[in-house]
Amino acid sequence: MELLTWNERRRMKKELKIWDKDLEWIYTESFYTDKEYIRCIADIFTHPVFQSMKNFTQHGDTSCRAHCIQVSYFSYNLARRMGADYVACARAGLLHDLFLYDWHQHAMLTGEHFHGFTHPKTALLNAQEHFELSPLEADIILKHMWPLTIIPPKSVEGFIVSFADKYCSIAEVFLRLSQRIRRGVGA
Ligand SMILES: [Fe+2]
Ligand SMILES: [Fe+2]
Repeated sequence: MELLTWNERRRMKKELKIWDKDLEWIYTESFYTDKEYIRCIADIFTHPVFQSMKNFTQHGDTSCRAHCIQVSYFSYNLARRMGADYVACARAGLLHDLFLYDWHQHAMLTGEHFHGFTHPKTALLNAQEHFELSPLEADIILKHMWPLTIIPPKSVEGFIVSFADKYCSIAEVFLRLSQRIRRGVGA
């Protein structure tokens, strides 16, 4: 089992502080003009299965598609700065929540109450059905809910995507709350 070294943790914290200064980054869509990022993910991004995630809500006003782009682009940048495999982070980040259903209604419709635990496997199976994945990318998708799912990722890249996922989820909820509060006071 490979966990992050002290140095890697330190570098990750430093990078996060940079991102943390500007929560609005997740809505800037600067990924459209990042040619290297587009090169890494173009085949996934243009696929109808990936695009179909815009029909499912992740958090608040954020679709699964938007959430996956945010996690992917965040992970890609973090991995590049850390000298990790940024291609794997970009691709696995884009596919990590490819479960393809509305999780808010999933338990009611199917009686399956453990979306948090089961969706990484569902996303991996869907991703493998439509795309060629490396073993590293497959492990990143399967372990992205760690530590909720007990077995940790095998790689630094896995920890990067797992962390980016939590960070983006919190940012999505936080931004929505702050927008509501601003609207509430008429700003
Ligand atoms: Fe997830
Ligand atoms: Fe996610």
